Amino acid sequence: MNPSTNKPNLLGFSGSLRSGSLSTRVLHTLPSVSADKADITIFNIAGIPLYNQDTEDAGLPDSVQKFKDAISASDGLVIVTPEYNYGISGVLKNALDWASRPGYDSPLKDKPVLMIATSPAITGGVRAIQQLRQTLSATLSKVVAVPEIVIGQVDKKIENGALTDETSLKYIKSGIDALVAEIRLKKIMK
Ligand code: FNR
Repeated sequence: MNPSTNKPNLLGFSGSLRSGSLSTRVLHTLPSVSADKADITIFNIAGIPLYNQDTEDAGLPDSVQKFKDAISASDGLVIVTPEYNYGISGVLKNALDWASRPGYDSPLKDKPVLMIATSPAITGGVRAIQQLRQTLSATLSKVVAVPEIVIGQVDKKIENGALTDETSLKYIKSGIDALVAEIRLKKIMK
């Protein structure tokens, strides 16, 4: 929580590595959309290697340590994912696998999370959201129950690199409100 503004510090990351990613464009729209509610830092998971327990046992790669530290330092997460073969991308699952260690006692434990899925298809990544929820349930993070944000036909809702569709923006704002409420509840219950 930023003591001067009383706004939570959120960490956002995208499950797509490609430069033209629609998910990443949605992610980069979040800081301005949420500016009055939260401060959002964006983390790029591109440098995270494939999970290998031998590597973990030998000492965390720098990129993984930075990722875990950034999660620990945040009050909550916003994950924007594309849908690959009815699930989340491999790179996102891999990053979450690294972050999930040690099991049931990782930086993801008790962390409030807002999930957003995007797709050029009308289904908007709804199956990816389901898989993401299942994966996060194993980490004991606190996933915002409602709304589950899916943005279908996302390619038609982005102009000049930013999400401009009013309905999607409203949807995201309600998601940020729910995430901030979860964070504030967590602080009260502590
Ligand atoms: C896809 N795409 C896709 N879309 C979808 O709605 N459901 C799916 O199951 C899949 N499966 C899938 C698998 C693979 C390997 C690729 C590369 C793509 C299409 C996908 O939504 C589209 O390429 C998005 O633009 C990818 O997200 P980013 O990179 O734009 O964020």
